[in-house]
Amino acid sequence: MHHFAVNRQGKLCCEEYPLEEIARQMGTPVYVYSHATLERHFKVFDEAFSSIPHIVCYSMKANSNGSVVRTFARLGSGADIVSGGELARAIAAGVSPKKIVYSGVGKSVPEIEEALRRGILMFNVESREELERINVIARRMRKRAPISIRVNPDVDPKTHPYISTGLKKNKFGINIRQAVEDYEWAARQPGLEVVGVDCHIGSQLTELSPFVDAAKRVRRLVDKLLAKGMPIRYVDIGGGLGIRYNDESPPSPKEYAKVVASVFQGLDITLILEPGRVLVANAGALVAEVLYTKKASPDSGKKERWFFIVDAAMNDLARPAMYGSYHAILPVGKAPARRVTADVVGPICESSDFLAKDRVLPLFKAGDLLAVMGAGAYGFSMSSNYNSRPRAAEVMVSGNRCEVVRERETIRDIFRKERVASFIKGSGVKR
Ligand code: LLP
Repeated sequence: MHHFAVNRQGKLCCEEYPLEEIARQMGTPVYVYSHATLERHFKVFDEAFSSIPHIVCYSMKANSNGSVVRTFARLGSGADIVSGGELARAIAAGVSPKKIVYSGVGKSVPEIEEALRRGILMFNVESREELERINVIARRMRKRAPISIRVNPDVDPKTHPYISTGLKKNKFGINIRQAVEDYEWAARQPGLEVVGVDCHIGSQLTELSPFVDAAKRVRRLVDKLLAKGMPIRYVDIGGGLGIRYNDESPPSPKEYAKVVASVFQGLDITLILEPGRVLVANAGALVAEVLYTKKASPDSGKKERWFFIVDAAMNDLARPAMYGSYHAILPVGKAPARRVTADVVGPICESSDFLAKDRVLPLFKAGDLLAVMGAGAYGFSMSSNYNSRPRAAEVMVSGNRCEVVRERETIRDIFRKERVASFIKGSGVKR
């Protein structure tokens, strides 16, 4: 469910605001987020878990724009962070440190120190060496670091290999069988306080069974740790619930919550959830303008094919290039009736620079606008300056209001941090 729809004049709108209008005011490419969709998604997800004590810790990597994070924080969300940058953003957006969980295989010393200073809820620790390092740092700071171990349950999430994390061969977490020993070690360290167990098996899961398998394995570990007298208060089952980009039929948050909550029935724990995509993906669209169209050279006997070259590219939305992901393409204005098979591609010099492949689309012409749907998650947050392209603007819509939530980058922004090495001839010449 989202708030992008065609109005009576045939124009695609975000809530009540025509995307055409946004493109006119802001230029393209531009990310457009619906505030109502964000709120609705958070509430639906949160309410699905109402039968059990829980904290929804929004996984900021999906979309770390301050207005997005603040929207969730105001509804009571915590944050799942993976860097010092996300910690700073979460706090700036009003997330309580007591609701921040810190995941990731490579936390640096300054990042650990800052998280300890802020008093976060817990570190989701991914290796024995990380446990040791956190212990040393916490002792030096005369603190006890609340920790859970991210266990790797060796469950196949049946999703794209690049976004599977819960298999033995993945770099994430500590093998669930090895974990008891590491917990026992951690429990003896003066700088560590064992508070929870954590697990995250992958992203864009469209079936319930991997979640259930992983949850059951985690439950067995929790029972074992409790029997050993460890005060496990939090069970973090990560994120990963998939959405519908095309023809997937992922479980609803309600179905997901029901099976997960039932596994932890009877335990005196607070469940932690780390949803990212399911909260933001369908709340965002990337609006682009068609720069050129051209016919592809015909394969013998095959139907005609077109390229629609747009001003958004893989630096703006990397998902199709990285994972071959599907994003629906919708016309923003009145679409021409004739439909053709086409690839929607960007200006970047790579053949993987496409936003859509082999789609039946209206025969767009230069100057037409189109919307790349489902772009609210892992869209802007994965964008880059590749090919020295300034990153897109981001706007948020609420009803009939539309505001800029991140200005478009300028060309100047792109090389602001660069210096010319003094040993290069002519380096003294002013630009
Ligand atoms: N928790 C942890 C520890 C994670 O690593 C992730 C995602 C999440 C939560 C949130 O997962 P979600 O609910 O969004 O599925 N760039 C890829 C997705 C990478 C996901 C990385 N980890 C994509 O565009 O599909």
